[in-house]
Amino acid sequence: MLKQKIVLFGLALGALIVTGCAVTQQAVSEDEMGLRQTSLYAEDKTTADATNYAKTAPGESKVFARSFENVPPMIPHDVEGMLDITKEMNMCMDCHMPAMAEAVAATPVPASHLASFRPLTQYVGGEFKKDGKPVANTSDIIVVVHEREGLSMDRYTCTACHAPQSDNALIVPNRFTSVFRSEEGGATSSNLLDVLNDGI
Ligand code: HEC
Ligand code: HEC
Repeated sequence: MLKQKIVLFGLALGALIVTGCAVTQQAVSEDEMGLRQTSLYAEDKTTADATNYAKTAPGESKVFARSFENVPPMIPHDVEGMLDITKEMNMCMDCHMPAMAEAVAATPVPASHLASFRPLTQYVGGEFKKDGKPVANTSDIIVVVHEREGLSMDRYTCTACHAPQSDNALIVPNRFTSVFRSEEGGATSSNLLDVLNDGI
């Protein structure tokens, strides 16, 4: 009886290995490798999806849901004529600074943009100090929130973090589903300054 069982088990295992090999051979072909779904050898036939940024003017676009907690939101509207941001001119601020935002129905910059997380570093008498406290080396972290009058210059170049969204660059469907801890800092708003020490 036991012998029979062992033989049966052996047969089943053999069958599994054989089917396993067959499946593997079928699934992996060099021509189908890679996310772009064309042959790896067809470099000249591979064309990228055209970039297609929104053409809708600010005030007429629909904001995108945030993809995770406190992500910098994507820019939903046309930015034609607003870039580059220069030392002299930042058109984003014209609409997104709190004083103006309500009048033009734009999301105002959040509290984190009106503060700086960079400590004031000094080198005095051969010693580094961050916010007045001596530190052994400059990478010792002291998170101190300095409120700023207006926009912190750490945030001046908006497009270093906020990018326009192209709507046809989805070569691979995105199956990621976001889960948010709360409404604030959820799919439609941010609250980084309030949760800075909570972790994500
Ligand atoms: C003329 C006013 C105006 C200018 C200039 C402007 N925006 Fe906007 N922005 C808006 C409005 C209004 C919205 C809300 C969506 C809409 O109604 O189109 C918005 C939405 C956004 C959002 C999405 C906010 C959210 O809640 O998801 C981001 C990010 C953004 N803008 C960034 C920028 C950046 C960066 C610049 C500069 C390159 C800029 N905007 C220039 C008016 C403006
Ligand atoms: C260093 C990266 C960085 C820069 C530069 C930056 N942002 Fe942000 N922005 C973020 C992040 C991260 C968030 C979301 C978390 C938070 O700070 O609350 C955000 C959130 C926002 C929001 C959503 C606010 C809300 O309440 O939902 C707006 C609008 C915005 N930024 C506009 C701007 C504009 C306009 C500029 C330039 C003047 C700018 N940002 C510069 C990273 C940045």
